[in-house]
Amino acid sequence: MTDLDSDLRTLKERFERDVAAARDERALDHVRVTYLGRTGELTVLRRGIGAIPPAERPNAGKIINVAAGDMEAKLVAAQTTLERAVIEASLGDTIDVTFPGPRARIGSLHPVRSVMADIARYFSRHGFAIVLGPEIETDANNFDALNIPPDHPAREGFDSFYLRPDLLLRTHTSPMQVRAMRTSGPPIAIIVPGKAYRRDAVDARHLYQFHQVEGLMVGRGIHFGHLKGMLTGMMRELFGPAQEIRFRPSFFPFTEPSAEVDVSCPGCRGGGCRTCGGSGWIEIGGSGMVHPNVLRSVGYDPDAVTGWAFGCGLERIAMKKYDVNDIREFIENKPAFLEQLA
Ligand code: DAH
Repeated sequence: MTDLDSDLRTLKERFERDVAAARDERALDHVRVTYLGRTGELTVLRRGIGAIPPAERPNAGKIINVAAGDMEAKLVAAQTTLERAVIEASLGDTIDVTFPGPRARIGSLHPVRSVMADIARYFSRHGFAIVLGPEIETDANNFDALNIPPDHPAREGFDSFYLRPDLLLRTHTSPMQVRAMRTSGPPIAIIVPGKAYRRDAVDARHLYQFHQVEGLMVGRGIHFGHLKGMLTGMMRELFGPAQEIRFRPSFFPFTEPSAEVDVSCPGCRGGGCRTCGGSGWIEIGGSGMVHPNVLRSVGYDPDAVTGWAFGCGLERIAMKKYDVNDIREFIENKPAFLEQLA
């Protein structure tokens, strides 16, 4: 027993000296073989257990196992130190540009941006130009030129952020129709994606800053059928070939006739559920034939050309496409929400 103890102690002292002296991996391996290998010193000591009195064997075995574990751990630690030293030496004063850096976290498109891209792709393919307009707009473009004079009740429907009596944050993308027609055409075919603002209280379906896409096509012989065709195509691009849309008679000052655009509800396929309030349809925007007064206000001749226009809420579309029930999710920027939609 005391023999084993003192044998082990001197063995461990030599072992530790040898480990400390090992300058590279090969030397360290040599130490490992010398002490723990098949014919290593500790192994030989363990085999010697058979020669001691049976009562002492379990304890002796335990002591040797503890020593072996301790030695293994020291070898691993020494190996790590050697490896780090090798890396540090190789760095020197030059930089290893091939050394892998920390992995970059890859983001994803925001769902509203992604819907915008789908719509832009569809209309580009059909020859439409994509134009952007200012978010600060004149009262005249946002309302008057769109056939909404100062005393028109429709102004009350738009709770506006005014910056000056004649300047506001645009309440819709429609004023860009006016800007675009004043600078070109007819004929003209454009879409206008962008932000719009309304003084609405924020809830699950409303934000005071949101996105719309406006569409406009004016030329000779343009009729309501073209509008139906393009909007049906756009919704099928977004939601697949089985997507149905319907038009409901409505009123907008800048179109005549006017129609609201509904898409069939994804939740119930028209049967009626909570998402669609039981109707089977979800309202997604407004549309119609451009009012002659609007054409006149930009210098077009309403007897020579006709046109259609529409305006859709992009958050509305994204909510349907990605099954989002609360519009506020789009602006909270929670990584979990965005990653789940990626
Ligand atoms: N600008 C309207 C709104 O924000 C939507 C709209 C309706 C746009 C009919 C249009 C249109 O271009 O023709 O509520």
